[in-house]
Amino acid sequence: MKNITFSLWIVLLCEISLFASGVEDNELFKDEEFKVLYDDDALHDQITYNMRKSLNLDVDGCILLPGEKRSLQECGFNVTAKTFFIIHGWTTSGMFEGWMQKLVSAMMQREPEANVVIVDWIPMAHQLYPDAVNHTHQVGLSVATTINWLQEEQQLPLQNVHLIGYSLGAHVAGFAGTSVRGTIGRITGLDPAGPMFEGVGDDKRLSSGDADFVDILHTYTREALGMSIGIQQPIGDIDIYPNGGDVQPGCSLSEMLTGAAGGSECFMDVIKCEHERAVLLFVDSLMNNEYMSLAYQCTDPERFKKGICLSCRKNRCNNIGYNAKKMRKRSNCKMYLKTRAATPFGGIHYQMKMHVFNRKHADDADPTFHVKLYGAHHDTDDLHVDLPNKVGLNLTNTFLVFNEDDIGDLLKIRLSWEGATESLGSFWKNMKKSFWSWNSNGTPINQVLEVRRIRVKCGETQKKFTFCAQDPSVTEISPGQVITYIKCRDGWEVKPSKKRLHNL
Ligand SMILES: *[C@@H]1O[C@H](CO)[C@@H](O)[C@H](O)[C@H]1NC(C)=O
Ligand SMILES: *[C@@H]1O[C@H](CO)[C@@H](O)[C@H](O)[C@H]1NC(C)=O
Ligand SMILES: *[C@@H]1O[C@H](CO)[C@@H](O)[C@H](O)[C@H]1NC(C)=O
Repeated sequence: MKNITFSLWIVLLCEISLFASGVEDNELFKDEEFKVLYDDDALHDQITYNMRKSLNLDVDGCILLPGEKRSLQECGFNVTAKTFFIIHGWTTSGMFEGWMQKLVSAMMQREPEANVVIVDWIPMAHQLYPDAVNHTHQVGLSVATTINWLQEEQQLPLQNVHLIGYSLGAHVAGFAGTSVRGTIGRITGLDPAGPMFEGVGDDKRLSSGDADFVDILHTYTREALGMSIGIQQPIGDIDIYPNGGDVQPGCSLSEMLTGAAGGSECFMDVIKCEHERAVLLFVDSLMNNEYMSLAYQCTDPERFKKGICLSCRKNRCNNIGYNAKKMRKRSNCKMYLKTRAATPFGGIHYQMKMHVFNRKHADDADPTFHVKLYGAHHDTDDLHVDLPNKVGLNLTNTFLVFNEDDIGDLLKIRLSWEGATESLGSFWKNMKKSFWSWNSNGTPINQVLEVRRIRVKCGETQKKFTFCAQDPSVTEISPGQVITYIKCRDGWEVKPSKKRLHNL
């Protein structure tokens, strides 16, 4: 509870500072010279098509002038190559933010022949948020007009056009897609803005009908004070929620404070970190295309956390970011994955299943399990087993284990039940427990659980294995103890035990 109140405070503080800075900026726009902003004729001056020729954003790009063929030649626009329009969002600084440089240079390196164009609508985005929102429609129309000109006068195939919009820019891309004559190849929405777009109709925001393929990365969907910075609802053909679209690793306040930024200005940085994570994940997919992150379809984040959804059958998994494969139209397909805190963001997902028998005095057992994985390349540390509810006794428990790197084929698993001395938290937990589990003679009684097998499925390879106790006589575990499991044939013990029953 305390935690929730604290996060609410963070968001409140940040929002106040956002709006405060917005108001302050807006005073500037009261000047006479900015009156033209609201004049439609002046729209062209407010939106610039900046074609990139250099990886470095500090080097001026070539300005494309829609309607002027000469500017295409001057800029070296190649109508047979792919064309990317990168569309920024709301800005409180009035400048390109740091992510723009990263995205442009990654895009140009991945697709050296492509036309990479920044849609610069900074003057219309550097306003109070509701005013910037109000401009997204006009900017989208301008982008559509430009694309119409390119396809009609220059025979640019629409299928080769890919719009990439961040935050408010995602909705600009949506309006462009709706207004263009024909259907654009692809739109990628990078954490599309939530405020004033959540819950509105398809035609008032980016939606799956706006391009042949619409893929969305949602990285900031945590709600505070009734709204979320990034849109929560699925709006594309595929909607990927890295880390549940919730807390992004590496973005927490404590991590940010200890990080390179040191003594950062405000909790603002936390919001920025999580919102911008969508862009960084996309950049990662451009740069590390031999090391792809997979996302898995699932009905909700809780089921994903339990490791239930790691299937790739019938297109249930897909690459994230630029490498996402177009799937047959299936709107609002929610997909999930876990990521690392920094690039390369991808890791390996394992689904593990183990049947936990209650052997002795463990009716109220609430064990803290860890697994250590031994791979062909190297071993992992002890990984905490996250069982969202209490461990199910006499039941098969399914859980998700995420490892930050590829350890190669899994060879061996060590299961441990954290003992009383290992951490303060578990110390108190065990104190409480042992208080209740002293028997009438005053001697502590030991809780005993039994796990005979662990079944593992690796999401990235889709391979399944069964691991059996290395020493078949050691399958019981108590606090502070470990059991080691090695690869065995599936169903290894099922038949013998049946036979044993027969013999009884
Ligand atoms: C234009 O792009 C196409 C397709 O990427 C490529 O084959 C061609 O060489 C490019 N032309 C020029 C002049 O760069
Ligand atoms: C949006 O902008 C138009 C002019 O382009 C204006 O007439 C309208 O009042 C604005 N709406 C809001 C909500 O500010
Ligand atoms: C599990 O099964 C054991 C016997 O096999 C039994 O003593 C115990 O009460 C059961 N526990 C639960 C929670 O069902």
